[in-house]
Amino acid sequence: MKKNIIVLSGDGIGPEVVNQALRVIDAVNESFGHTFVLKKELIGAASIDAFGIPLTNEVIEKCKKSDAILLGAIGHPKYDNDFTTLIRPEQGLLKLRKALSLYANIRPIHIYDISKNASPLKEEIINGVDLLIFRELTGGLYFGEKYLSEDGNTASDICIYTRKEIYRISKLAFDCAMTRRKKLLLVDKANVLESSRLWRKVVQEMSESYPDVSVEYMYVDNAAMQLMINPRKFDVVLTENLFGDILSDLASVITGSIGLLPSSSIGLNTAIFEPIHGSYPQGSGKDIANPFATILSVAMMYEYFNLHQESAVIRKSVAWAMKNNLVTRDLNENEYFFCGQVGEYISNFIELKGDLKLNKINISNLNILL
Ligand code: IPM
Ligand code: MN
Repeated sequence: MKKNIIVLSGDGIGPEVVNQALRVIDAVNESFGHTFVLKKELIGAASIDAFGIPLTNEVIEKCKKSDAILLGAIGHPKYDNDFTTLIRPEQGLLKLRKALSLYANIRPIHIYDISKNASPLKEEIINGVDLLIFRELTGGLYFGEKYLSEDGNTASDICIYTRKEIYRISKLAFDCAMTRRKKLLLVDKANVLESSRLWRKVVQEMSESYPDVSVEYMYVDNAAMQLMINPRKFDVVLTENLFGDILSDLASVITGSIGLLPSSSIGLNTAIFEPIHGSYPQGSGKDIANPFATILSVAMMYEYFNLHQESAVIRKSVAWAMKNNLVTRDLNENEYFFCGQVGEYISNFIELKGDLKLNKINISNLNILL
């Protein structure tokens, strides 16, 4: 199969984790005989440095024409406390999501063996967790009208949703629930927000067409607590943009590291595959970031192309790396590898079709840090 992929590595650790994901793509395509034409483009602070804006129209056009987009991370601390500039790296990502109408961001959360040690939560709490967050991605507070008074003393962001926007992502979530445990939870703040009440109304109406799906509603504050107390009871979680952003970072605590959570953003145009984590500027250039989230995002990309064997191979290789403790520092502080080493191990494992036996020689070649 031939595909054209735009690669937007972005900022901070973005290029480091994306490079490992690209090695994995090479290894998989080599084994299965696919050709991906990969083209690197700039986004975020990297694009501001080169072009003065966080995303150019040329790049948007190239993205539209491609079959998928692989994205690293966006953000640079030099913009975080600078209130003199209106230009911010994150605008590039928001512009891209909007331009491509990627209204659904899907964030799967399940645990691995390593989560038992890496997660601060007790084993009996995290055992068996398998949930999916459907985060609305092109509406809400992120995209509502923004206001800053001239004197700089008053500011507002509007949370706005239309029935159509709620319907289209809810439909995906309901359909997905039908393929799983048939449980859908809408997370909102309907006791306070008008927009949340519209979400509830639309979802309630839709539930009549899905009699087999048991629909529940939960306020976001309670959902945050329940996610930590009893995450097993969650299956498909549907929520608006900001709540989904916050809850998915929180949910990563269950798995043991935010470096384990991949995502796909789908909608009307080319889909984006990206880890849910940020650009982790403190870790940038140190080769310490966890590449699993990006590698698992690549697995989601193959699934999106209906290449299920290929994605299964990637998942197997990640599970194998974890089982053999070939992990970065976030997952094991005492005995860890670098980002590039993990990527090398995983891509070798794929190239050798799983026939990579670990021994003292190849482990020491990788300079294990003890
Ligand atoms: C995410 C990120 C982005 C978001 C930022 C970088 C704009 O946190 O994808 O979760 O808030 O959506
Ligand atoms: Mn986020």
